[in-house]
Amino acid sequence: MSFRIQPAAPARPNRCQLFGPASNTKLFAKMAASAADVINIDLEDSVAPSDKDMARANAIEAINTIDWGKKTLSVRINGLDTPYWYRDVVDLLEQAGDRLDQIMIPKVGCAEDIYAVDALVTAIERAKGRAKPIAFEVIIESAAGIAHVEAIAAASPRLEAMSLGAADFAASMGMQTTGIGGTQENYYMIHEGQKHWSDPWHWAQAAIVAACRTHGVLPVDGPFGDFSDDEGFIAQAKRSATLGMVGKWAIHPKQIALANEVFTPSEEAVTEAREILAAMEQAKANGEGATVYKGRLVDIASIKQAEVIVAQAELIAAD
Ligand code: COA
Ligand code: MG
Repeated sequence: MSFRIQPAAPARPNRCQLFGPASNTKLFAKMAASAADVINIDLEDSVAPSDKDMARANAIEAINTIDWGKKTLSVRINGLDTPYWYRDVVDLLEQAGDRLDQIMIPKVGCAEDIYAVDALVTAIERAKGRAKPIAFEVIIESAAGIAHVEAIAAASPRLEAMSLGAADFAASMGMQTTGIGGTQENYYMIHEGQKHWSDPWHWAQAAIVAACRTHGVLPVDGPFGDFSDDEGFIAQAKRSATLGMVGKWAIHPKQIALANEVFTPSEEAVTEAREILAAMEQAKANGEGATVYKGRLVDIASIKQAEVIVAQAELIAAD
């Protein structure tokens, strides 16, 4: 380990973030009653420009009147390239109560984007005497966002989570793709005459995970657009979990259970992790740094891997 210890990410479940447009008030109660860990009320791209003011007012009323239980409650504001975002921040911070946990800043391209929002939020919190500081989450969904991902992850102590937004990211990168996330028909290799599909999101995801883990931020996989394709969603989510992401967005309620399932360590995985920890305890008692578990080497690094799984399971069980 470097002299600098890797900071822990916020200890809260973030397996599924359920989105709904703030212009569609009939969804709010359903979102609150869902099994998602995080709720994202959207003011950005699922709301038409003509509905922005109405959506903002709806979001504030919903935050103040609906029982959101123990969920992390977040509002996605409009991007810093729009005329809407400052009003989103001012009205939310002035009019929404302390139940609001977080705001999500989309299309972040540099650390200064976060700095600008942080300065505005901090001034309003002081002016209004808000007791609970608002947390931030961001979406990496542009070439600039991924190029500056490490500086963005370090930009503010308010930052708790960072998501990959596949569709805007693909457009910004000039990728020849359609569909939001998942397998891309043209991203394959040929081996012995057979096509083998690869994962065009892998690099961006790994870069986000590395930036997040360096700075104690939760890495999250964004939307999977085809909500009739459960298998595709699960495959994408499993790849994200394997790379170190903690959860995934749901843009339809049927995706919630799928995300919760993938991002909750299975009983077998937890049992195996506990057995590895026990085997290493025994090894330590015998004065050994490595031992054999089910025919394979386990050593001090295996303890850390096993602890990740056990810690995740305990966090979810405690919620
Ligand atoms: N949250 C909670 N409930 C939702 C929901 C959501 N995001 N989306 C749909 N539902 C509800 C519907 O109201 C319906 O409820 P009912 O059975 O009580 O009538 C049920 O789930 C089935 O919905 P369905 O008819 O399959 O979908 P739809 O045509 O009503 O809506 C979408 C489809 C995609 C328009 C809608 O799911 C949606 O707005 N998703 C979020 C989009 C978004 O926020 N995008 C921004 C982030 S990328
Ligand atoms: Mg987007």
